[in-house]
Amino acid sequence: MNGKKPMLKMENVSKIFPGVKALDKVNIEAYGGEVTALMGENGAGKSTLMKILSGVYQKDEGKIFIEGKEAHIKGIKSAEEYGVTIIHQELSTLNNLTVAENLFLGNEKCCKFSRRINKKEQIERSKMFLEQIGCNLDPNELVANINVGEKQMIEIAKALTKNARIIIMDEPTTALTDIETTNLFKVIENLKKKGIAIIYISHRMEEIFTICDRVEVLRDGKYAGNALIKDIDNDKLISMMVGRKIEEQFPYKEAKKGDKLLEVSNLSCNEGVNNASFEVRKGEILGIAGLMGAGRTELAKTVFGEYKKTSGSIKINGKEVNIKNIEDAISQGICYLSEDRKKEGCVLGLSVGENMSLCNLKKYQNSLRKIDRNKENQDIDYYINKINIKTPNREQLIKNLSGGNQQKVILAKWLMLSPEVLIIDEPTRGIDVGAKKEIYDLLNELKSMGKAIVMISSDLPEVLGISDRILVMSEGKISGELSRKEASQENIMKLALA
Ligand SMILES: Nc1ncnc2c1ncn2[C@@H]1O[C@H](COP(=O)(O)OP(=O)(O)OP(=O)(O)O)[C@@H](O)[C@H]1O
Ligand SMILES: [Mg+2]
Repeated sequence: MNGKKPMLKMENVSKIFPGVKALDKVNIEAYGGEVTALMGENGAGKSTLMKILSGVYQKDEGKIFIEGKEAHIKGIKSAEEYGVTIIHQELSTLNNLTVAENLFLGNEKCCKFSRRINKKEQIERSKMFLEQIGCNLDPNELVANINVGEKQMIEIAKALTKNARIIIMDEPTTALTDIETTNLFKVIENLKKKGIAIIYISHRMEEIFTICDRVEVLRDGKYAGNALIKDIDNDKLISMMVGRKIEEQFPYKEAKKGDKLLEVSNLSCNEGVNNASFEVRKGEILGIAGLMGAGRTELAKTVFGEYKKTSGSIKINGKEVNIKNIEDAISQGICYLSEDRKKEGCVLGLSVGENMSLCNLKKYQNSLRKIDRNKENQDIDYYINKINIKTPNREQLIKNLSGGNQQKVILAKWLMLSPEVLIIDEPTRGIDVGAKKEIYDLLNELKSMGKAIVMISSDLPEVLGISDRILVMSEGKISGELSRKEASQENIMKLALA
């Protein structure tokens, strides 16, 4: 495409899972010293394609060429021998080992004569590799004590210890703070200078335009084209991904505001909320912005009864309620959609349908206390269609769904409870542009039905786009409130740093 020879070429690659053609004759290229974005909607096949390249899955057909020669990738080790490493979205660092031990895990440096691990050499080499990516972590530090951004740095340094020529990053920034993301981008610039080919998956459009050089697009398991980033814009990229234009990325709808539904006064908890007061009315979407660690999730979990409040009170429809645990919260009509879907949101060993009706079984009990399966299944299928969950059927195990589609199942689970107050924490993290719009439409629909919605989000365009009112948190406190009219990226950031 630009006169250079590709470092990687995948040709006519196909992969079938039971009931799903995940990839259908896909072609992509990646070049040394460049970042190639791999884009597509949830379930388009991005992770599957990258798992094939990194030896996690075997392809059913097609060829892979690395630096012009055909590569026969038989497994993860074999991929590493070809210079390919993947940094999965769910990081695989081990908490009970040190930074250095993690870096050389499976690849330990041994002493010459005894077969003991040469700790000293590992520590020295760790320092060197970490320095190469501008990271000053102590190699002796226990990984349990470091944060997600730093864990990611370990994974990248680990790729360097294996002499990686192709590094794949699958949604690397979903759990990072803004500062960590900026840091990651610096590291990526460094990797580019070393001539490494980087393949980058993300649903955050602005990132693609910041650090990528080219883009390859998949649509529904098929190849949908490529482009140089400098030749395209946001709208063009979206229409390549979804096959149509998205008119309004953040649809806002005015609704009739009713009485106060949720009133929180002087709420505190030991997990990091300090004297927070706010209210949400029927027919209102209240956005909560702030930096990571500002106490937003903690505030939500305290209202939801997951964390114990140390002071304050909560009123529903003007009446004080005593919420001691999650069950109390749910029976008061409050639901909370967690930001951490793997840990708190879903049961990986259960099906899509079971995950959706998990908290709802009471709703489907008839007078004989038997579950009305027909009614339950009707509702499950309704939501699968309503928010376009990509799954062959409701019996599919949730662990076989793509990341974004798992997120949609969890949203459906809470919607099925028809809550009065819906608190959602980073609801569109990992969700593609098209599906985001469907979720916003759904929130607007709930709003017009007179529900109260609290939306915690780090995505400022999203908060600004669909909230009626915005609270900003900083260091456990509510540092300000802005009306839809007043709010801008600048004044939110000012309050977030207050
Ligand atoms: N182990 C598996 N068993 C069955 N189906 C699978 C498996 N892994 C993936 N799939 C299916 O293959 C398709 C592609 O999934 P993949 O995870 O590659 O999507 P993705 O583009 O990474 O999406 P996302 O942006 O949501 O992460 C989906 O329909 C998914 O349900
Ligand atoms: Mg994926």
